[in-house]
Amino acid sequence: MPNRAVVFATRALPGEAFAELARSCQLEVWPDRVAPSPEVLAERAAPAEGLFCLLADRVDDRLLARCPRLRAISSLSVGVDHIDLAAATARGIPVGHTPGVLTETTADLAFALLLAVARRVVEADRWVRSGGWRPDAVWEPDLLLGRDVHGATLGIVGTGAIGQALARRARGFGMHVLAWSRTRRAIEGVEWTSLEDLLARADFVSLHVARCDETRGLLGARALARMKPGAVLVNTARGGIVDELALAEALRAGRLAGAGLDVFECEPLVPASPLRELPNVVLTPHIGSASAATRGRMAELAVRNLLAALAGKRMPHCANPEVYR
Ligand code: DGY
Repeated sequence: MPNRAVVFATRALPGEAFAELARSCQLEVWPDRVAPSPEVLAERAAPAEGLFCLLADRVDDRLLARCPRLRAISSLSVGVDHIDLAAATARGIPVGHTPGVLTETTADLAFALLLAVARRVVEADRWVRSGGWRPDAVWEPDLLLGRDVHGATLGIVGTGAIGQALARRARGFGMHVLAWSRTRRAIEGVEWTSLEDLLARADFVSLHVARCDETRGLLGARALARMKPGAVLVNTARGGIVDELALAEALRAGRLAGAGLDVFECEPLVPASPLRELPNVVLTPHIGSASAATRGRMAELAVRNLLAALAGKRMPHCANPEVYR
């Protein structure tokens, strides 16, 4: 087939969308589950006109400089903080992402973490499996007491699509919902407030902001110290928004009751992280969007973005639309 664009993909995906990409392009696929190093990525992607990447791949200006034929980047993620958008725009390269399709699935995980921490589900599971619930045990009135979710106050930091989806779930559970975002986007049935007030009043705080210069370290030691004593923190947004060492300290000292964390400053979470030792923390490996259906929809969008741009059309979901001006 003549003139099929050269595409480098950092991961093969199952399903029809990726098969279509293979049929439509000269597709080169990185064969390992571990992402290529920056140097290897630059070597392998050098001849590519299209790059299909994951959020674990760093796409910076150095990489772009090594890929002179590149005219489209598509990431299998809604977040694009792993891509230097300004550098891509300066080089006239549109960057595709996958908004919308993972909203509800990610909000489900945020709420699952909130419930798991509140009702100590993972601790209870560990206790049963490790033989704590012995045959001669009696029913204990004070065993594994948690905290109620219904009637509690939830503070949502970031009122984009996922923050709004979480607010709908929380209202269904009879929670009072506070919200704050930098863009002051109001949500129906939610009390708008300042970040300071939210941190001081919320029994549960859930983060839904993108990682960028303004949000890096947003929940640092000072902000964590402002949280209501005994509160629970949930983060399904991005690592780096929370100071993990300060959080571990607040949890160890009992100032905060627990945390549910799906994202980390360094992924995979480093073996020495103090968070691993804390029983009141539920840790998941960045699985916010990980349902089979949602990952399938993300693959479809990511492939559609790439094929559109390689065909000279506007990407349906472009993270740097200013590239078209
Ligand atoms: C994203 O898409 O940005 C999520 O973090 C993973 O699906």
